[in-house]
Amino acid sequence: MNRCFPEGFLWGSATASYQVEGGALQDGRGPSVWDTFSHTPGKIKLGHTGDVACDQYNRHAEDIALMKKLGLGAHRFSLSWSRIFPTGRGAVNQKGLDYYRRFIDGLREAGIDPWVTLFHWDLPQSLQDDFGGWQSRETVKYFADYCGFVASAFGDTVSNFMTINEFMCFTDWAYGAGEENYAPGGNLDRKGVNMVRHNALLAHGMGVQAIRAAAPSASVGLAENALVCVPVIETKPHIDAARKAYREMNAHFLTAIMEGKYLDCYLEEQGADAPEFTAEEMAVISSPVDFVGHNMYLAHHIEADPSSSSGYRVLPHSASYPHMHAHWIKVSPEITYWAPRFVHELWNVENIYITENGCACPDQLDDSGRICDTDRIFYLRNHLLSAARATSEGIPLKGYFCWSLLDNFEWADGYTYRFGIVHVDFETLVRTPKMSAEYLSLVASENKVL
Ligand code: NOJ
Repeated sequence: MNRCFPEGFLWGSATASYQVEGGALQDGRGPSVWDTFSHTPGKIKLGHTGDVACDQYNRHAEDIALMKKLGLGAHRFSLSWSRIFPTGRGAVNQKGLDYYRRFIDGLREAGIDPWVTLFHWDLPQSLQDDFGGWQSRETVKYFADYCGFVASAFGDTVSNFMTINEFMCFTDWAYGAGEENYAPGGNLDRKGVNMVRHNALLAHGMGVQAIRAAAPSASVGLAENALVCVPVIETKPHIDAARKAYREMNAHFLTAIMEGKYLDCYLEEQGADAPEFTAEEMAVISSPVDFVGHNMYLAHHIEADPSSSSGYRVLPHSASYPHMHAHWIKVSPEITYWAPRFVHELWNVENIYITENGCACPDQLDDSGRICDTDRIFYLRNHLLSAARATSEGIPLKGYFCWSLLDNFEWADGYTYRFGIVHVDFETLVRTPKMSAEYLSLVASENKVL
């Protein structure tokens, strides 16, 4: 079994602004929908908020030193839109911009390549209040303006931008009635959600164009959590079925971006609720990207089913299917092989990155008081073995970002799930690397699964 990665394979960690920064009221930052939502009683477990989070806004130098020590070559993080434009548009907040300049320069000085996500769900509250957030084309337009501004501000030193992180979580889960209910906590019907999805895709496309115009030499992509389809048995019929399922089950996001159209199966399924769109909009949505960033945590197991009209069936997971502390993470290490393979086979993508992979684990101390997260090491090792399988077959998987550098604010679950390879004591804000940090650090330095 091949355990080695190609030379130049990128190793990184990942975080997002609202989950780690804190400093919610510092230096002129405007509120985002997540500030409002987390302060609404009953929305977040134990009433947690991101007001302080890991306080990275005030401790970024310490975090950069930590990353340097781990020897990871890249760090993926998002910008808080409302820290830069407190109302999402209009006058820039210079202090917010200066913070990101310090952070980026600090990473560079430490030899860490900054990978910047423009939007990781913390929409400026003002855009929600004034226009209904992603229900409106105004928000799309302001997002493109913000992307262009950021690219011209940092294009001299940032080489990789991601427009948007995970579409489903700030569209379906955020605006849909009866869905997971993320900020802003909407109540739209299916037609309404489909228009929000469409606006989000348009924002991505316009964002790509704005970044390119402002920073022509930068690479532009996205970080999408497309549903990962894995053949239940590795035979040709099941593999073909899984590839078809992957394309169709992601028809409303990644497939639309890669192909510039909504598949007939999606439009037929949605019927009168299908989004309204024009050919020009689809062309913008499919503006070419330089890389596809793929977040991945779990699989949908697929079998070929000649008796169904789609030709495939999504299999249920039994009660004893292994999972991590967060039950939704059903362990399927095959995802880091199949997702890159299908992205490459379906759309000829030549630069694929795993922009998130990781898991939550409860703290387990050994006799010496060390956080001994052998469960996370098990999770990472197996996912990395599958990733090495992909690279050894010539699939152009170019890098891996572990979610997450730090324990952080896990959205509606507050601080109850710990995804970090570095422990954060949320009382004292002391950081302590876990055993998995040592593991990833060694893997990165040897460029090999250990
Ligand atoms: C994906 C999201 O991008 C990130 O914000 C979240 O914390 C992780 N998944 C874990 O749920």
